[in-house]
Amino acid sequence: MTVKPATRPARPHFSSGPCAKPPGWAAAKLAVDSLGRSHRSKLGKQRLKLAIDLTREILQVPDTHLIGIVPGSDTGAVEMALWTMLGARPVSMLAWESFGEGWITDVVKQLKLDAEVVKAPYGELPDLTRVNQSHDVVFTWNGTTSGVRVPNGNWIRDNREGLMIADATSAVFAMDMPWDKLDVVTFSWQKVLGGEGAHGMLILGPRAVERLESYTPAWPLPKLFRMTKGGKLNRAIFDGDTINTPSMLAVEDYIFALEWAKGLGGLDALIARASANAAALDRWVQKTPWIDHLAADPATRSTTSVCLKFADDAVAGMDDAAKLALVKKMASLLEAENAAYDVAGYRDAPPGLRIWCGATVDTADIEALGPWLDWAWNEARA
Ligand SMILES: Cc1ncc(COP(=O)(O)O)c(C=O)c1O
Repeated sequence: MTVKPATRPARPHFSSGPCAKPPGWAAAKLAVDSLGRSHRSKLGKQRLKLAIDLTREILQVPDTHLIGIVPGSDTGAVEMALWTMLGARPVSMLAWESFGEGWITDVVKQLKLDAEVVKAPYGELPDLTRVNQSHDVVFTWNGTTSGVRVPNGNWIRDNREGLMIADATSAVFAMDMPWDKLDVVTFSWQKVLGGEGAHGMLILGPRAVERLESYTPAWPLPKLFRMTKGGKLNRAIFDGDTINTPSMLAVEDYIFALEWAKGLGGLDALIARASANAAALDRWVQKTPWIDHLAADPATRSTTSVCLKFADDAVAGMDDAAKLALVKKMASLLEAENAAYDVAGYRDAPPGLRIWCGATVDTADIEALGPWLDWAWNEARA
């Protein structure tokens, strides 16, 4: 038996979604006047609009881009874009982990488009400089299940012909987004700000709007996906006039998180918190012989969903099933001790650990986590 570390993380919440609530969050602190009323009442509309306006302010989204609250969390927002915009020109689908793969399935198997598929294995990025930008391009800004992110938007041409469609659900509020290079950006409240699942955010640049107003897909669109009326964008959606009924409780929870973020100092402060967390975790990785980063290149390493694998020497002779059993054992030991929740890697990723380092996590808790991971490793191996 190894000795348990003296200090536990104060908030052992390291899940990569839904992520830790903002520090100081409590259900009793949420505004509830909008609950039990119509979301189309004056108050309901005001709260939805406030969520949109604070999103714009904190993410520094330029006035050129529209921001809408849509159904179905991040998946809903991505699928709205894919179903309404694709098919007008050739498509390139980029993927380096499970969620990117999921969008390929949507486009190739469901929409049956003859897309160019560009993939890289877990831990790597494809060569972004070779992406054909005369195509519409669909990619994941931060691959939540591999911990590999796009380092910047320098590879995206200003005069691209296609649309750049980015699933940025585990990137926004933690990484800089080059808005002028992105035509569609999506995310969910349940990620970096620690809100609730349920609703997605769909951000559209002028070229995406132009596509919606000039192109009608060959396939039918359910009401939930329809953003145009008589060939014109239904702009009311982007003022908080949602397509169908949202959860006002989830809206109020998101507003709480946005106000917390604003109080901290906005985007720069959020990015600084995630970077400090990822750096603290990296200090532990660097001094720990049994663990390595899954993302080989530090430039592409996520500062939110940090994915770790066992060092080859430490698990010599073990197959993936044995490594997975080790992960499960460690995760359940840590959970039973209330030292860390939800730190097992994603089911489709190479066996390992995944530690969320987004802005709602406190650096002191990441620092307290390292010794517990060592403890769980020793216990699980014993
Ligand atoms: C990159 C990425 N895309 C999509 C999703 C799906 O998000 P949601 O469950 O909010 O629809 C996730 C969730 O973890 C994700 O990490």
